[in-house]
Amino acid sequence: MKRQFAKIITSIPGPMSQKLMERKSHAVPNGAITNIPVFIKKAENFLLKDVDGNVFIDFGSGIGVMNVGHANEMVVESITAQAQKFTHTCFHMAMYESYIEVAERLNKYAPGSSPKKTYLVNSGAEAIENAVKIARRFTGKSAIVAFEHAFHGRTLLGLTLTGKVSPYREGFGPMAPEVYHLPFPGKARKPMNVDTNPMQYNADFITEQLKTVVPTSSIAAFIIEPVLGEGGILPFDKTYLNALVEFARANNILLIADEIQTGWGRTGHLFAMEHFDHEPDILVSAKSIAGGMPLSAVVGKAEIMDSVQPAGIGSTYSGNPVACAAAIASIDFIVENDLPKKANHIGNVTRERLNQLVEKYEFVSEVRGLGAMNGVEFVVDKVGYKPAPDSAKRIQKICYENGLIVLKAGSHSHVMRMLPPLTISEAALNEGLDIFISAVENL
Ligand SMILES: Cc1ncc(COP(=O)(O)O)c(C=O)c1O
Repeated sequence: MKRQFAKIITSIPGPMSQKLMERKSHAVPNGAITNIPVFIKKAENFLLKDVDGNVFIDFGSGIGVMNVGHANEMVVESITAQAQKFTHTCFHMAMYESYIEVAERLNKYAPGSSPKKTYLVNSGAEAIENAVKIARRFTGKSAIVAFEHAFHGRTLLGLTLTGKVSPYREGFGPMAPEVYHLPFPGKARKPMNVDTNPMQYNADFITEQLKTVVPTSSIAAFIIEPVLGEGGILPFDKTYLNALVEFARANNILLIADEIQTGWGRTGHLFAMEHFDHEPDILVSAKSIAGGMPLSAVVGKAEIMDSVQPAGIGSTYSGNPVACAAAIASIDFIVENDLPKKANHIGNVTRERLNQLVEKYEFVSEVRGLGAMNGVEFVVDKVGYKPAPDSAKRIQKICYENGLIVLKAGSHSHVMRMLPPLTISEAALNEGLDIFISAVENL
């Protein structure tokens, strides 16, 4: 098939990537795996070019980070200009304006009308840790209730909050105390074993659920991913969230929204919580906030954020100036170019084209998503809905061998996850979908 963008000229991995993989095996621990066995030399908007000259269409965005596209001109200029001035002072020692500019943008764009304040750190997991500390400080309570199948990071508290055991928690115990899980409330297939009757969702239902889990009086916060990313592209049930918010408000419990993957236009709104019409007390942002630079944020209602004692939160690299410069350019690019609207278009094209696979193949059970956050679920057959991780793995391989990078997700790694840059062209989007469809046809 003639391709305009993807160009595969060697077997994958090519000889140069193979040599580097050999070096990696000696220098880097085995636990740090890589799904796509190539080394990248250059990236441009929606394309990744490897060291052997192969070119891939990127439907992964470095796990949802490159919403503004690789090497975005505005972001690169902003980073370069800042790097030439200074790269670090530590905001807690000597301050700089760009930190304030990022915080002001987050306070303005985070959903809900309450006055807000923002604290910056480095990674998603670090921001989650801080959100939990702040929620505990404000409420004076310690328990945090998360949901099965959610992903909240790999630090000890992050992986304790994460609702999936293997591979994240294996051998790393004991887990952090005072973290509890409830079943994920969303439309999901049998293997996820969730309750699918939304009619019964109300505050009493939450009370019943918690009876065997943790005393209501000790809960500081509920933490949710509005759409499961790693868990398989499943939106949180709206009726359940209404009940959860009602329950939380009645019991002085905070709602923390983990928008690390769903934020910055990905789901068709600037933040996914806008689909649910609830203002979280604390919102956690990372990934696409800074066009590929490591930066994360905790945005919360001002009174909550101000409840922490001076120096109670801090970090050497909290809001690094180069990362802040990238964030200012990235956020402005997302807003000025209305990337949420583009995400909706990408989603419509993706779901419309891929739904034909569900009609045609017994092993493709569902195409689902919000905006440009989409997943294709593979099962053994549609009668038992037994997950088929081997099919997903093979599809991923056929895709990269033909010039498309897609990610795996889901309770059994049986879902292909698509998170292309929101700047992807119509032609590249369709070429990527062609490659994916042909991979499924050739499974
Ligand atoms: C929803 C969610 N929360 C938290 C994290 C952890 O972020 P980081 O890998 O930057 O620590 C991720 C990363 O994939 C994520 O998708």
